[in-house]
Parts: sequence; C-alpha cells; structure tokens
Amino acid sequence: MRLIKIFDTTLRDGEQSPGASMNVEEKLHVARQLARLNVDVIEAGFPIASPGDFEAVRRVAEEIRDVTVCGLARAKDIDIERAAEAIGPAQSGRIHTFIATSDIHLQYKLRMSREEVLEAARYAVRKARNYTDDVEFSAEDATRSDWDFLCRVVEEVIKAGASTVNIPDTVGYAIPQEFGELIEYLMNNVPNIDRATISVHCHNDLGLAVANSLTAILSGAGQVECTVNGIGERAGNAAMEEIVMALKTRPNFFNADTRIVTEEIYKTSRLVSKITGMVVQPNKAIVGANAFAHESGIHQDGFLKERSTYEIMRPEAVGIPQSKLVLGKHSGRHAFKERLKELGYELTQEEIDKAFERFKQLCDQKKYIFDEDIETLVSEEVKRVPEVFSLLDLKVESGTGIKPQATVKLRVRDREVVTTASGDGPVDATYKAIARLTETESHLEKFEIKSITGGTDALGEVSVTLEEDGRVVRGYGSDTDIIVAAAKAYINALNKLEGRKREPSKGI
Ligand code: KIV
Ligand code: ZN
Repeated sequence: MRLIKIFDTTLRDGEQSPGASMNVEEKLHVARQLARLNVDVIEAGFPIASPGDFEAVRRVAEEIRDVTVCGLARAKDIDIERAAEAIGPAQSGRIHTFIATSDIHLQYKLRMSREEVLEAARYAVRKARNYTDDVEFSAEDATRSDWDFLCRVVEEVIKAGASTVNIPDTVGYAIPQEFGELIEYLMNNVPNIDRATISVHCHNDLGLAVANSLTAILSGAGQVECTVNGIGERAGNAAMEEIVMALKTRPNFFNADTRIVTEEIYKTSRLVSKITGMVVQPNKAIVGANAFAHESGIHQDGFLKERSTYEIMRPEAVGIPQSKLVLGKHSGRHAFKERLKELGYELTQEEIDKAFERFKQLCDQKKYIFDEDIETLVSEEVKRVPEVFSLLDLKVESGTGIKPQATVKLRVRDREVVTTASGDGPVDATYKAIARLTETESHLEKFEIKSITGGTDALGEVSVTLEEDGRVVRGYGSDTDIIVAAAKAYINALNKLEGRKREPSKGI
C-alpha cells in the first residue's frame, strides 16, 4: 500500500476563500486540530502577505510538533527570506516557492520569457535551500502549460534541490483522464523525477478537484494538496475528507492510503466551518448533514436489515456518532416504528397504524419532521392528552421602565379563572399567572424558542420541559406572538402532566 502525503492548505489557500480569513489565534486552533488529524504538512500561510500571516506561520511553527510546517513564497528574494524566518522555529519546516509556467501567465501577468521563468525557478529553489532542506516548488497554472516546457522546469528545480514538485491545476481546468496523462507524461519524461515527490493541487472550478487528485494518485503522485471542507480560492480546493475517504473505502482500487486519523475528520470539518463562517452544504460528501441520513422508505428498510445495503462507509469512521433515519414523506412503516421505539413508545399495532397515518398527513404539511413532532403526534393524536387546562385570553404589559405584567384567563376543567401576575419578563409573568391558576408546582427544566420561518412575522415555536414528582414532560406551542406560543407550550406540558398523573406508565 503506497502512503500518500496529505498537504493541508486550509490555512493558506483555504483562507483565500472570500470572507474566510482567520486571525492568528484561529489559525493556531485549526492547526492543533490538523495535527490531531495527523496531516503530513500544514501550509500555515503566506508570510509576505501580511504581518498577521507571518505571525501565524511563525506561531504554528513554534507550537506544532511532528508535522511539517510550511510557508508560501513567490520566486522572489523577499518572499523567500520572510518565509524562511517564519518557519524558522519549526521542528520540520518547508518553504514552498512558486512561479507560473503557462504562456498565458508568462505573457499577461509576469511579462517574462520561458527562459527567464526557468532561471527564476532555479534561483528560487536554490535560495530556499539555503534555509531548509525541505523545499517544494510549484509550477503555477501547470495544467495550461506546454507539457515539454513543464518537464524542463520540473527537471531543473529538482536539480536545484526541490524535494517536492507540485503540479497545480490552478484554475480548475483539467479533466481527470487528461490530468492523469499529464502526471504520467512527467513521470516518463523527466529523467530525475524519482528524486522528488510529485504533488498535485487541484481547484474545483469544474467540480473535478477530487477526481483529478485521485487520478493523479493513480498515475504516481505521492502528495495531494487539499483543504478541509474543500474551501479555497473561487470554487475551492480538493476536499481533504473526500480524498482520504475515497482511498480508505476503495483500497483494492487505489492500493494507497494516508496517515489521517479519519475519526477526527468530522470534528475538523465543524471547527473549520465555525471559524471561517463557511457553511457546509447539507449534501456535501463525508461531512454534510445528510451524508449519513436516509429518508426513502426503501433505503431505510434496507439499511435497517443490513446497513451495507445503502452505506459504503461507517459514519463512526469519520467521527460522526451514527447514521440518521430522517422521517419524511418517503419514509416507510419500518423506520417509523424504529423511531417510536427509540423515543420510548411501546404502542400496539393499532396505535402504530393510527400514528403512521397521522404522520403521513403531517409530512404533506411540513418539510421537516422532528422527534418533537412525533412525540406530539403520539401524545395528542394517538394517546390523546385530555385538555384539563386551556388558554382563553392573555394580555401582557411590558417595555422599558415598567415591571412586566401578564393577565391570563384559563379554563380549568369547566371553570373560567383569571389572574394577573408580574415577573422578570413577560414570559416569567405569564408562567407565574398560569402556575397560580392551575395550582401546579412543576419545575421548568428547559425553555427553547425558535422562529419557524424568517422575518419579523415568523411563527415562533416554543418547547418547554417540565418536571413534577419525577415525571418529565415536554410541551409545545406555536404562534406568531412568542408570548402566546410560550403560554401554549406551558399549558400543553401541564396537560400532559395531568395525563401522566392518571396514567403514570405511558410515554413522554
Ligand atoms: O492554485 C495554485 O496554483 C496555488 C499555488 C500557489 C500552489 O495555490
Ligand atoms: Zn491554489
């Protein structure tokens, strides 16, 4: 099995995603997690780019052990000197220097001839070698470069001392088969190629970054450059987690693996998303919220009989605790029954049938079905909660400089009762009035509020957890007025408690 090096550039190219820049502390936080993930190289930044980037590379170099820490530098004296200074404290430090090799870049951006570029590349590698033995050279825009010129550049930089030569698909232009052929061409036409590790660095403009990286591995690349969640310039870079898990899942096909501790993948993905503010799309491979979620009834049934019918990887392998069976309109009775069991309901077949019928109706009304919906459905529709208490009227006074007050009118069994209470806020005042009218002494364990739709006219959904004499119930209420939603949720929970007093062995 070949071991492929993972060169993580989340802190450099990943940071080039619009809006994803990280400060020094944030970079250190991510770097520590990348070390736990066991990447081979951390490209911590571009030291010449800003004092903050210099500082970040230096701090990562000072702190992180057992992982190579790398700083990027253009093929220019000042960049290389700054990168050398930044990686100075590293246990193992690398300078990554680059210059473009495509005619488009030479003509319009660099305004240099091929010979000048060749000389600049040689010079940059030699200069970098004065500071470290570990020098990587990148031929920027390699995939749009003339293949024979690229071969000459690669040969010369290896002669000058580069131990890693990177072939970037800078603009995400390559197609897997063609990219594989380019790597093979280099392997067959650069005489000293065996003296360096060939690396690839693919961008995702055509959505092919991971496919291109994997094809390059098949053609002999020994290092892949990638980022967590695939973040990076424009459409991003090849996603680390996808490359690693493709190799892990198809060992017979690739005959290659990495040193990555795959169980750390999900945690790393969450951390990078939180720090950069780059949200992971739900259908993102490996780490998306739906990556291990099954909704279709046929899939759920197969999965429950034997998970390998519809799962090629175990979620635990990437640090996700378990697969999810999402209940929705495509789900079947099998998954529904399982979920009822997980929620602690022991229902008769007749009750299950009734609940399932009601569940299917709800699926046509609601996009997402949460466990709370199922609990409400079971307790209110199947094991109907008797309405001992119901809300008739609610008036609240609150604002700046006044003590909030709530006047609540309830029906308690067949009596109408009303009272006014004050509290620390409008919800507190309302709850005090309700507790007084219902003469209950439950303890509020949890109060959660969320808006169902966006905008100031959103429907507010409140859920409360009450405890009384060891009985715990959850109540729900929704309304465009959040105080009314809170009152409804409290009353719903109190009604459940009343029901439980009569029938203590039944579910939540
Ligand atoms: O995409 C690219 O070419 C790069 C180089 C600096 C390696 O990021
Ligand atoms: Zn790049």
